[in-house]
Amino acid sequence: MTADGKITTRTYSPVDFTSREDKLHLLRQRALADAVLIGHSTLQKDNVRLGLPKGELRDDRVARGQTPSPLRVIVSNEGRIDPSLKIFQSDIAPILIFSTTRMPRKFQKALRDRATLHLSDNESVDLAWMLQQLRREYKIRSVACEGGAALFRSLLELDLVDQLNLTIAPFLFGGHDAPTLTGVGKEFLPASVHCTLTDMRTVGDECFLTYRIKRRAS
Ligand SMILES: NC(=O)c1ccc[n+]([C@@H]2O[C@H](COP(=O)([O-])OP(=O)(O)OC[C@H]3O[C@@H](n4cnc5c(N)ncnc54)[C@H](OP(=O)(O)O)[C@@H]3O)[C@@H](O)[C@H]2O)c1
Repeated sequence: MTADGKITTRTYSPVDFTSREDKLHLLRQRALADAVLIGHSTLQKDNVRLGLPKGELRDDRVARGQTPSPLRVIVSNEGRIDPSLKIFQSDIAPILIFSTTRMPRKFQKALRDRATLHLSDNESVDLAWMLQQLRREYKIRSVACEGGAALFRSLLELDLVDQLNLTIAPFLFGGHDAPTLTGVGKEFLPASVHCTLTDMRTVGDECFLTYRIKRRAS
């Protein structure tokens, strides 16, 4: 995010405001996870493949007993996911889509050839249930969520996040309508989330922070 807390501009246009080092940092974090998770809007706007480059990162995974690349998981309530997105052109790792039976049949038909669909009868995806499914059916033990803000906020509200990797980039965007880490919503989170700073590193003008997120007392 920018130094004023923005993760993109008010038009949500794909913006490239972080360094090569930050992009490597993202790949390194992605490479640690068993699965990588993304919200439909981010997938649509940024058109990412969620893969890993050949070489050390993949080799290290295999040496750790993981698959060469993390499983790719897309979350969408409405399910109108464009089958021509780049993620579906790459077969680096299986793709799972967690959505609802609101997904129109036309999309179900087109996406079934490219991904495994998990469609629930609810209005929206139950994220806790999704994580349980990932663990039970796919033996996934660690998930790296790459945003966006709406999905991250939902995970926070459900107390399902245990670590935040945050890069502060040397820019200020301003703008009331540009989303922060938790989106543009005016509402407070149901409870403030308490973090512990576990690592801090600066490279050039960027600051790389790692926070452990404290679980709410139940
Ligand atoms: N700076 C960064 O590091 C960074 C990182 C990631 C993203 N971004 C930016 O963030 C923007 C997109 O973020 P966003 O907040 O608009 O969207 P998002 O979180 O990427 O996606 C939201 C969508 O995910 C689906 N979804 C399904 N279940 C959900 C749930 N329980 N909670 C929330 N979403 C759920 C819905 O898809 P349907 O509409 O299909 O139902 C929802 O509209 C993009 O502009 C992207 O570039 C920036």
